[in-house]
Amino acid sequence: MKAGIGVLVSGGGSNFQALAEAAQRGDIPDAEVRLVVSNKPGVGALDRAKKLGVESLVLEPKDFSSRAAYFERIGEEFARRGVTLICLAGFLLKVEPELIRRFPGRILNIHPALLPKFGGKGMWGHHVHEAVLAAGEKESGCTVHVVDEEFDRGPILLQAQVPVLPGDTPDALAARILVEEHKLYPRAVARVLAGTPQK
Ligand code: GRF
Repeated sequence: MKAGIGVLVSGGGSNFQALAEAAQRGDIPDAEVRLVVSNKPGVGALDRAKKLGVESLVLEPKDFSSRAAYFERIGEEFARRGVTLICLAGFLLKVEPELIRRFPGRILNIHPALLPKFGGKGMWGHHVHEAVLAAGEKESGCTVHVVDEEFDRGPILLQAQVPVLPGDTPDALAARILVEEHKLYPRAVARVLAGTPQK
């Protein structure tokens, strides 16, 4: 039986698509994305799920009595479908311990910078790239790491570098990094599923 991957999203879902397609092509061997959960209705990731034939669910925190109950439910939905690895792909909520305890060491995140730099609270989307440019960095990139109870601080699995070019805007840098994200995330997932997460 194929390993079940679950994905959590809040937006466009291009990394979700990269993971689902990599699994369908066999680049993540013996695995399939079985469920994508969005915390928001109407986002691009849900359209992509439909096109890719991946089951999707919208679960909104406002419909739950607490954040703990919300993440309990997400864990149940994944577990019911045999998901053993969860990938955060542009998921903007902080994952609560209820989910981390249920999937210890089995929740990954992709961050559009070279952690441990430019991570943590408030460091998402264009904020990350603005901070990289303001700091005059010569290089940026992306990081896949294990999610633990501190934002953007869990063990790093893989990174890819891109140059920061003269005249770069946050959007230009983000686009250059996104191309690398789509290659890096499937590689990291394949390694974790093969039990060889080291470089
Ligand atoms: C990516 O840059 C990812 O690193 C960050 O959020 C963005 C999500 O993009 N966590 P998408 O929704 O996968 O297109």
